[in-house]
Amino acid sequence: MFKSFGRGQRVSATTVEHPALKVKPRHIGIIMDGNGRWARKRGLPRVAGHHAGMTAMRETIRACDDFGIECVTLYAFSTENWKRPISEVEYLMRLPEQFFRNEIEELVSRGVRVRFLGDTSQLPPYTQETVRNSLLRTEGNTGMTVNFALNYGGRNELMCAIERYAREIADGKASVGDLTEADFDRYLDTAGLPALDLVIRTSGEIRLSNFLIWQAAYAELWFTDVLWPDFSRDDLFQAISDYGRRKRRFGAVE
Ligand code: FPP
Repeated sequence: MFKSFGRGQRVSATTVEHPALKVKPRHIGIIMDGNGRWARKRGLPRVAGHHAGMTAMRETIRACDDFGIECVTLYAFSTENWKRPISEVEYLMRLPEQFFRNEIEELVSRGVRVRFLGDTSQLPPYTQETVRNSLLRTEGNTGMTVNFALNYGGRNELMCAIERYAREIADGKASVGDLTEADFDRYLDTAGLPALDLVIRTSGEIRLSNFLIWQAAYAELWFTDVLWPDFSRDDLFQAISDYGRRKRRFGAVE
């Protein structure tokens, strides 16, 4: 059934048993890029690309769960994305509402726990309501964690973490000189999550764009020319099996 795994071949949900998935990332971060170009190629408005991107996101969450991934972080809206035309920003801000309305039951039945990274207090009230509801609906779940990075920027996350740490020092709860890299984790939005193992970016761009910059320090990076709305279960399988073939040395020697 699993003789070759070239691009375009369908990979079934049972692939979780597949030998190529033996060594798999615990935590995958995805920069979902190329929605606008996907739409332009079809003569559609940019927002049509975001809508198609939302479908690809749903399929990717399903596939991550089927492949036994513990945690996936999706870069949905960056602190820099506010610079886009207001109509596009408004459309993007409405997508979570639409997404969770359609998907929450399946997420709950899969035992998925939803989290948000980034400053959600700056989102429009209706988006904040969706954030609150999806957190509440999934808070007791113990399956895969899905993080939506929404109004997220890695530098902003680090600044906030430093501020939290500074406040603890001011309150006498932490002291200067004691902080280790492992301790610093608890001030980050990703506190308590498995270390980031693999970053996937679509659309041929080869940069991190302020995504999980602390966490990505030792992550493996995987880039593809595929535009995000076309990203499939097969592409994810390729990324994960490629990860399984990498030698991770973390600066040491073999
Ligand atoms: C980047 O492509 C994509 C985004 C800024 C938005 C990604 C959002 C989704 C896929 C859906 C999110 C949905 C929820 C529910 C959180 P781009 O627009 O920069 O593409 P381009 O580089 O081709 O213009």
